[in-house]
Amino acid sequence: PGTLPLAGRHVLVTSGPTHEPLDPVRYLANRSSGKQGHAIAAALAALGARVTLVSGPVALPDPPGVTVRHVETAREMLAASEAALPADAAVFAAAVADWRPAEAATQKMKKPADEAAPPMALVPNPDILATLSRHAMRPRLVIGFAAETEHVVEHARSKLARKGCDWIVANDVSGDAMGGAENTVHLVTDAGVEDWPRLPKQEVASRLADRVAEALA
Ligand code: C5P
Repeated sequence: PGTLPLAGRHVLVTSGPTHEPLDPVRYLANRSSGKQGHAIAAALAALGARVTLVSGPVALPDPPGVTVRHVETAREMLAASEAALPADAAVFAAAVADWRPAEAATQKMKKPADEAAPPMALVPNPDILATLSRHAMRPRLVIGFAAETEHVVEHARSKLARKGCDWIVANDVSGDAMGGAENTVHLVTDAGVEDWPRLPKQEVASRLADRVAEALA
């Protein structure tokens, strides 16, 4: 009584996109705004958790009361996430770029004289969620996200097993979830699936923070 439910707990959250450089002025990225991940970090802090938020480039302010590590690339996000361990729980809400240019040029790439497009070889990025789910210092509760446009729950179930995490928050991005203020999610665990109504991202965040508090209690 009187103490917040996540007091004394440390929770790691990733949020936002990653930027994968092609040269000093160009990068590969995606449309993630970071709104959902940042809201989750704030909601966990509001329940008393010490929160480390590893954020890719976003246009959002740092949530108050949260330690923020700003990164650009997936590899930097992985390093900052590992450096934040140990943690009691981790929520991987970032939209990490699946691939990066194989080589980032140190000087701006010039247009070839023949107007041809330069070749761009891509290599896969590390999977931060999968890596931390199998880490020697694995947090007790590991939560991943799955943005899907169809077969949302089936894809989330297979992702649970593939990534080695405990829960998947599956969000239906067939509408305007990416960048929008609301989200429709399904919480997929070994125990089953909970369908949540369409809710403001802050409300999704506070419900998820409540569930994290229950799981760690
Ligand atoms: O495989 P997919 O990208 O759909 O999985 C999404 C989940 O995995 C999200 O929780 C996301 O943060 C995480 N992820 C990651 N590192 C990657 C790719 C995805 O942590 N390279």
